[in-house]
Amino acid sequence: MSVARASIETVTSSTLQAVVLAAGKGTRTKSTRAKVLLPVLGQPLVEHVLRALGPLGADPTTLVVGHQAQAVEAAFAGRGFTFVRQEPPLGTGHAIMAARPVFAAHPDRTLLVVNGDLALLRGETLVSLLGSHRRAATAATLLSAALADAGAYGRVVRGPAGRVARIVEAKDASPEERAIREFNVGVYAFAVPPLVDALGRLRARNAQSEYYLTDVVGLLVAAGHTVQAVALDDPSEGLGANTVAELSDATRRLRERRLRDLMAAGVLVEDPASTTVGLDTVVEADAVLRPFTLLEGRTVVRGGASVGPFVRIVDSEIGPGAQVLDHCFLRECVVEAEASVGPFAHLRPETRIGPGARVGNFVELKKTHLGAGSKAPHLSYLGDATIGPKVNVGAGTITCNYDGVDKHPTRIGAGAFIGSNSTLVAPITVGEGAYVAAGSAITEDVPPHALALGRARQVVKPGWAERRRQAQGKKTE
Ligand code: UD1
Ligand code: CA
Repeated sequence: MSVARASIETVTSSTLQAVVLAAGKGTRTKSTRAKVLLPVLGQPLVEHVLRALGPLGADPTTLVVGHQAQAVEAAFAGRGFTFVRQEPPLGTGHAIMAARPVFAAHPDRTLLVVNGDLALLRGETLVSLLGSHRRAATAATLLSAALADAGAYGRVVRGPAGRVARIVEAKDASPEERAIREFNVGVYAFAVPPLVDALGRLRARNAQSEYYLTDVVGLLVAAGHTVQAVALDDPSEGLGANTVAELSDATRRLRERRLRDLMAAGVLVEDPASTTVGLDTVVEADAVLRPFTLLEGRTVVRGGASVGPFVRIVDSEIGPGAQVLDHCFLRECVVEAEASVGPFAHLRPETRIGPGARVGNFVELKKTHLGAGSKAPHLSYLGDATIGPKVNVGAGTITCNYDGVDKHPTRIGAGAFIGSNSTLVAPITVGEGAYVAAGSAITEDVPPHALALGRARQVVKPGWAERRRQAQGKKTE
């Protein structure tokens, strides 16, 4: 930004209130869902605006809702926001009028108005804008940015002395006005009394027959007030998302910004183009993110861990030095220090892989604790199981945890050895140090240090095959 950074303390507290415009139909997305709820990097579009606003502590923060009002209110309920309804949506000026009873009740508090579709807006920018507004003591301060072709954005028209005169919407602009590079981002700081006054004079005489909030600028200037524009250094921060293509462009830019920050903090991102890290995900320095890694929700990846390639992890924690190898999907689980998971493993909720433990290919775990140093290397399903340390779970072991009605637990004690292709019919306990013979169906508890065989004894009939071939030969003669 071209203004000095204001400290957050100077602009917060009860001197600030905010309105977020989130009532538009968003017809340009062609979606049946409200535009402000469409996902951008895993969060509803307007959530990004609310996060930028969050640290400012504006009181109150009002959301103007209209299109699918109930869904929008439900998505942001319980967070202390005030909701007002704008029905039908007749433009951004009409939207701010719907919030007038709320903000006019605090005429002494600066009003920050933010369009709900600014996915890339940063909190620091709002702090800066407000600092600039306070220092200049103008009736309004708006955020602008410059593009060689400002497309569908409203243009900032400046008078002969270079002062902001008005904003003209692209649809109403003359060819000369359309050539203006400086555009209106859709973020404004207002002194409340002159705004209330100007809103009384707002009309919908324009190409879209809408009440434009942007017309307030010209009305303020006509009433003798000063309006200043503060320009963004990086115009991409001011991009409003109107179409699905613009939403996905915003996702890409946010993703890249997030990865740049992580790399600056020492995370080794091998291929930023194919890596996604959610806004609530934590990745520590020295973690390695291999190509095609998706980290979502409240996932935490500790230092020295390596994830990927082709891995998706949701709401899980990966401990220091742990590895999640190729093609794994993990949700709501914990992989402790130095453990190894994959390739091709599926870890479902409430699973914990102990320190140094190993889960190999085509293994699915659900609500299971695999103890420290234990191994389940191949082709297993382990559900509702508590497995002690240093257990070997042989290839193809299955816990039969479900009887068609209820789920039952399996317990395997420390150091037990479960032979390949065993079936453990729960509820069942295999004691510490016990052995289960390969191919067993275990239906009764196995005491510690015992051997359990749960299969028919092998019968060998010497010469049987030869006799059979001879008998068949006779038949065909
Ligand atoms: C608006 C600005 C334009 C600016 C651009 C920046 C106006 C008239 N124009 O245009 O100058 O360059 O943003 O991105 O303000 N909304 C309502 N109620 C309505 C209409 C819209 O709450 O009746 C909300 C929308 O949900 C959206 C925001 O206001 O979050 C902006 O509306 P939108 O229709 O996207 O305005 P633009 O045409 O992009
Ligand atoms: Ca817009």
